[in-house]
Amino acid sequence: ATVLSLSPIGAFADHTDLQSLVDEAHALYKDNDDGANADYIPVLAEVDSSLFGVVIITASGETFAAGDVDHRFSIQSVAKPFTAALVMEQQGVDAIRDKIGVEPTGMPFNSIVAIELNDQRSRNPLVNAGAIAAVSMIEAKDADARWAFIQDGFSGFAAERLEILDDIYQSESETNYRNRAIANLLYNYERLYADPTEANEVYTKQGSLGVTAKQLAMMGATLANWGVNPKTGERLIQKNYVDEVLALMMMAGFYDEVGIWAYQAGLPAKTGVGGGIVAVVPGEMAIVGFSPRLNEAGNSVRSLLAIEHIANELDLSLF
Ligand code: DON
Repeated sequence: ATVLSLSPIGAFADHTDLQSLVDEAHALYKDNDDGANADYIPVLAEVDSSLFGVVIITASGETFAAGDVDHRFSIQSVAKPFTAALVMEQQGVDAIRDKIGVEPTGMPFNSIVAIELNDQRSRNPLVNAGAIAAVSMIEAKDADARWAFIQDGFSGFAAERLEILDDIYQSESETNYRNRAIANLLYNYERLYADPTEANEVYTKQGSLGVTAKQLAMMGATLANWGVNPKTGERLIQKNYVDEVLALMMMAGFYDEVGIWAYQAGLPAKTGVGGGIVAVVPGEMAIVGFSPRLNEAGNSVRSLLAIEHIANELDLSLF
């Protein structure tokens, strides 16, 4: 394997090195078969576990990719920071802080105890409770408008039209009793801001949106580029809101493994049970991994290893 010794500043102009680094990260972990597909949503268990893709898109929009980077998978929880960003854009950063909260839970992503132990609040918009609350905060006249706001917003981040993966949506809708409980509990505590059934349905749709690793990297690259999509040049989030989105990702993007992630990779990131992870290097690039097999905390094994490898080789840790 090529050993790169690049300094982070100015190193990214050398495209050959970034392509070989992405190739190297893919080759290093391609044969790792640790972990297992999520199966609490029945159809996720049927996704081909061998799929593996790694992508970097720079803040200026250049793409370096290896493996299965055009396969569409469900975005799942990787949606959460982008919804938080859309709500910030609509209502300001204080609204997220005051109505949801910004503290990590140290508990699994679907924890109910985390609500009960923390003042009956959803705690932060990157766990299920806070993410359903963020969906409920969107100012929209009905469920269709609420959904359109998310689908249009995410498509803007990806610079391509994104559509729901119907089989995932059906499968999760039929089995999401726990999230229904979370939505109802929050509503009871006046920490949900729309009808709980509607908020949970739209939340389930959002997680069922299909993205490729490349599209997800473009979404992340919009954050890396301080809110301007590198492909379309459109400003999608105010520059000063990106800091808050990245702070949330740093504190809560890896669920109860966020500490070890900060320790070893040092980058704001968000993971999802579909196997996607996006990490953001502010001002520089987004790094995405896609691989369906997850560890015990629900984080994609090969995706996190590949991103960690790239972060360490380029010395990208923020700390
Ligand atoms: O709420 C759920 O259970 C899923 N749709 C999303 C969960 C998820 O991706 C958490 N990720 N690690």
